[in-house]
Amino acid sequence: MQKLEVGYTEYMKETLNALNSGLLLVSADKEGRPNVMTIGWGSIGVIWGRPMFVVMVRPSRFTYGLIEQSGEFTVNLPPRELAETVAFCGSVSGRDCDKFRERGLTSVAARSVKSPLIEECLVHYECRVVHKNDVLPKELFTDIVSEFYPSGDFHRVYFGQITSVSASPEISGK
Ligand SMILES: Cc1cc2nc3c(=O)[nH]c(=O)nc-3n(C[C@H](O)[C@H](O)[C@H](O)COP(=O)(O)O)c2cc1C
Repeated sequence: MQKLEVGYTEYMKETLNALNSGLLLVSADKEGRPNVMTIGWGSIGVIWGRPMFVVMVRPSRFTYGLIEQSGEFTVNLPPRELAETVAFCGSVSGRDCDKFRERGLTSVAARSVKSPLIEECLVHYECRVVHKNDVLPKELFTDIVSEFYPSGDFHRVYFGQITSVSASPEISGK
C-alpha cells in the first residue's frame, strides 16, 4: 500500500503509546540483509534543533553490531494484529534466525536510509545516528542498576536524527 510522507509529530502519540507493547526496529548488514528487533524504550523529541528518535540497544543484541556498522535504523509502528510477531522479534535473535522470513514480514526500501521499512507496519521513522553514548553505571540511580542491569550489558543510547517519516493511510482507522 502507498505510504504517505508525514511530519515527525503526526503520529507521535500513537508511537509512544505503542512502546508499552513494542515497536519494531530494523537495521541491516553491509549486504543489505535486514534484521528486526522489538524495542520498548525510546523517545521522540528535538535535539540540536533536529527531530530525533532516541533508542537504547544492549551490546548483546545482534542489532547492536548492525547499527554500529551502518549508523542507521528505522523504527516501525506495528498494527495490533502483529502482536505475536512483536513478541517473537523481542525474544529471538537475528543471529539464529531470519525473522523477516520466519514471520512473513515484507521489507521495503526506505526513502532516505539503507535500513528498510516493514511494509505491514503503519508508521515508519527513518533515522541516521548522529550521536551515541553508553549508560554509565556510576551515573545511574542504584535502584535502576539493580533492577535493569543485574548482569551488566548496559545499553548504548543511539540518537537517530529522523530523516523521513511515512505512514499508511489506514492508520487513522486503527
Ligand atoms: C516488549 C519488548 C521490548 C524490548 N525492548 C528492548 C529495548 O528497548 N532495547 C533492547 O536492547 N532490547 C529490547 N528488547 C529485547 C530484544 O528485542 C531481544 O533481545 C531481541 O531478541 C534482540 O534481537 P537481535 O539479537 O536480533 O537484535 C525488548 C523485548 C521485548 C519483548
